[in-house]
Parts: sequence; C-alpha cells; structure tokens
Amino acid sequence: MSKLHFDSKQLIDSLEGTRLAKFSDALASAVLGQGHALKHGHLPGWEKALSQLPSCADAIGSVVDGVVTISGLFSDEQQAALHQGLTGLMPWRKGPFQIGPVFLDTEWRSDWKWDRLAAHISSLENRLVLDVGCGNGYHLWRMRHAGASQVIGIDPSLLYLKQFQALHHYWPDPALQLLPLPMEAMPANMGAFDTVFSMGVLYHRRNPYEHLEQLKQALCSGGELIIETLVVPGTEGDDVGLQIEGRYANMRNIYELPSLARLERWVDEAGFTQVQTVSVDVTSIREQRSTSWMPSYSLAQALDTQDDRLTVEGHPRPHRAIVIAKKPV
Ligand SMILES: C[S@@+](CC[C@H](N)C(=O)[O-])C[C@H]1O[C@@H](n2cnc3c(N)ncnc32)[C@H](O)[C@@H]1O
Repeated sequence: MSKLHFDSKQLIDSLEGTRLAKFSDALASAVLGQGHALKHGHLPGWEKALSQLPSCADAIGSVVDGVVTISGLFSDEQQAALHQGLTGLMPWRKGPFQIGPVFLDTEWRSDWKWDRLAAHISSLENRLVLDVGCGNGYHLWRMRHAGASQVIGIDPSLLYLKQFQALHHYWPDPALQLLPLPMEAMPANMGAFDTVFSMGVLYHRRNPYEHLEQLKQALCSGGELIIETLVVPGTEGDDVGLQIEGRYANMRNIYELPSLARLERWVDEAGFTQVQTVSVDVTSIREQRSTSWMPSYSLAQALDTQDDRLTVEGHPRPHRAIVIAKKPV
C-alpha cells in the first residue's frame, strides 16, 4: 500500500515566525508517527489526479455567497484537465467550491452550518484557530476569510487532505494548513489556540470527556470552543442519551447521541464556562444530498420511507446542535 510523503521541513518552515513555531517539531513528529494511517490503497490515484490539475497563473481566491471560489482563466484544454483531476478526487462531501468553470456541488451545504454559527462566535479577527475533523477544509477557508491570522485543520482522512491540496494549489495561502492527524495525536497541553472548532466529531468518539479534555488542552486560557454534534431531539431539559449499536442513519462508528442537556453537562463538567447552545437544527435533505460530485447514497436514503422523522434503523432522524463555551482564564 502506498504511503503519504509528508514533508516535515516544509511544515516547520511554514510555521516559522508564527505563534505555532515552538510546536512545529512536535506537530511534524505527530504526523510522522501516524505510521500505517498514512497509507492508503487509493493514494496513487489521488496523487495522479492532483498532478493533473493545470496551473492557473492569474488564479484569485475569494468567498462568494458562501462558495469558496477560485477565479481565473482556464483554456479549453486546461478546463478538461481540471475536470478530470477533480473527478479523480471524488467523492466531494464538504463545500461548495467553484474552481474556474467547475462548480463542485458537494454532498453537504457546509455553508449553511457556517451561517448557523457565524453570528454567535467571537470575532476570528487575528485569532489562531484549530478546526478538529475539518474534512477537506471547506470551513478553514471560511475561518481565514473571517479574519483569522492562522488556521490549522486536522483530519485523519488522506482523501480530504488531497482535496485540500487541490484548493491550496490555486489559493496557496501560507496561513492555512491541513495536517493528517486525529485529535488524539495532537501534542498535549498546547494551550495555544484562541478558537477551537470540533464539528461532526464528538459522536465518533467513544469517550466524549476525553475528546473535550483534548480540545481544552489545545485552547489558550480564555479561548473559545465551538462544538457541533448530533443530539437526540424532543428531550427538553432531560439528561438522557441514545446509545447506538450498529449504524445510525447508515453511518458507522457513532457511539452516543446525547440530549442537549447532557451535551451541555459534558461540556460544563469538562471544565468549560459560559456554556451556551446557539442552534438546534433538523438536518434537511436539501442540506445533505447526493450530487453529481457525490453520487452515492446520502441522507434521503438514510431515512425511513414511511416516516421521515426516523432513520432507516428506527432512530430519530439527525438533529444537530451548536454549543459555544470558554476555557476559564
Ligand atoms: C462529519 S465530518 C465533519 C467535517 C466538518 N468538520 C464539518 O463539520 O463539515 C467528521 C470528520 O471528522 C474526522 N474525524 C473522525 N475522527 C476524528 C478524530 N479522532 N480526530 C479528528 N478528526 C476526526 C473524519 O475524518 C471526518 O472528516
């Protein structure tokens, strides 16, 4: 199986002079220590797809109506190569992106999640930000565009790393990095980040307290945590949880869906203050759906055909909450 070539010198050089410089060796060692997790049978195909992406001398990156957009001129030949390269990096789940003439209509309208939280978080202006489980990095661009001085995303998926690199090829912002790491492999007690996001990760963790503790350790004192996760609906004020055995909405590796009260208690007991829920939302089949860039089954196929309040397994359909809290000073 092919192994990711990780250029630790490039990471260390890129962090020089930034607030993360003192952690650059530890971060590079953490990635190199991933061993088998840096291998994937599809890696050669993804790397070939990346190498097919044409260069575009006048490419300019921006965010337009929630779409991370690369504008630039691509000849007909370049357009064909661009389409082929991006096709080789399918499925595209998080977005949307517009790259030259190609609109990547992704499975998720990740911009809707951003819209639900943006008004409630502290300004990201000049902040050092960590996005845990960042997927292909769609929200990294949004965080940077919202004024963050430096944004680090971590995600163990090598496909998502390659998708991020496709975007970075056209918008090579040195203040954005995606490292192929799970949260558990981050250096302990960094105390470095002004804002930490963990969106769509907590329900994948068997021990939610451990995850919350790791997020707290990454934050500086007074820093802000944003947790976005699945919750059990209709349990106002009740401290309950739904234990998942097998799949949930066709997804594997889901452990417990807490009620909102339980989620807030977890965050509080993990040592955060000012815990507040800013959004609870039923995921719609307009927000998560199959598209030409992610043609497999999506949310619609994960719901009961007779009663769309339930998943195919008979659980309540996905509801997602956003909770914001502070690490004490
Ligand atoms: C549901 S996706 C969420 C992506 C993005 N944060 C969002 O909200 O759109 C969950 C992501 O978390 C990543 N992930 C799973 N376990 C993780 C862990 N222990 N540490 C960091 N990321 C993890 C997965 O690879 C996946 O990309």
